[in-house]
Amino acid sequence: MDRNYALEFVRVTEAAAIASARWMGRGDEKAADQAAVSCMRKMFESVEFDGRVVIGEGERDEAPMLYIGEKVGSGKGMKLDLALDPLEGTTICATGGYNSISVIAIAEDGKFLHAPDTYMEKIAVGPEVAEVVSLEQTPTENIKAVAKAKKKEIEKVTAIILNRPRHENLIREVRETGARVQLISDGDVSAAIATCKKTSGVDILMGIGGAPEGVIAAAALRCVGGNMQGRLTPRNTEEIERAKKMGVSDIKKIFTMNELATGNVMFCATGVTDGSMLDGVKFTREGAKTHSLVMRSETGTIRYVHADHNFNTKPSIWKTEY
Ligand code: FBP
Repeated sequence: MDRNYALEFVRVTEAAAIASARWMGRGDEKAADQAAVSCMRKMFESVEFDGRVVIGEGERDEAPMLYIGEKVGSGKGMKLDLALDPLEGTTICATGGYNSISVIAIAEDGKFLHAPDTYMEKIAVGPEVAEVVSLEQTPTENIKAVAKAKKKEIEKVTAIILNRPRHENLIREVRETGARVQLISDGDVSAAIATCKKTSGVDILMGIGGAPEGVIAAAALRCVGGNMQGRLTPRNTEEIERAKKMGVSDIKKIFTMNELATGNVMFCATGVTDGSMLDGVKFTREGAKTHSLVMRSETGTIRYVHADHNFNTKPSIWKTEY
């Protein structure tokens, strides 16, 4: 992939972030998500590529737009697969919390794991400790390995974990090692990326979150040189069957980061609300300011894009209330 498509797709996440940010703090998760989805879908029409949604809003019968398998883009140009979440952290956005983003990961045809809409046990870390953690190890072993590799006391290690009842034992075990636990309400894609950012203070992401989000996070970590593993944790036989139908024959398999997102991948995300990695959308008199991240695995380039949008001079798609 010679062309950096993420530089074009960042306009798409910018627009989707603005659309959902209009619903920020208004307590309506559905409306915030719908706005991001509709806007993103419309924006794709302006990009020249032959795209297919691999990770999206769900199955065709449950999502009218950006469903798994939907063709997007002009239909001309390179065949690309997309793993996207127009609004990652719908509750965060609706409640005006931290770390909701609009995100698109891009790969060549067939390079993303077709992850079913189920849960995934995940572990994610930054480059310094990429080789020392594994889902085959216990949480205690992983925490100790991170402390040793980072040459710091366990008390200085911070694990980020979704605050869910299913993580009760995990949280207890991590605390018993002496490590600190940062509990988040939502948004484990941002949390996974935070492990790679030195100033975030986060060393490791642990626990179970959405499987589709796992693929998106793996694409991001491929670009920044971190590491991640994921193992599907379906809740019932229906989810197991769905996973098998989507090509996952071994349900207990631990997927490496490269198996979740293979080949050359690109990633772009725009902050909807303020977060550890990106500032949220700020509305101005003329339009809005956005803050985005654009990354590419092939070159390892990480770009932060600050944009000032003037709605008076932009196409209506940017100022429409979805
Ligand atoms: P949404 O954007 O769909 O609201 O997902 C937010 C999220 O917190 C993800 O980051 C995470 O992977 C997943 O939900 C966790 O699922 P659950 O809320 O069911 O525990």
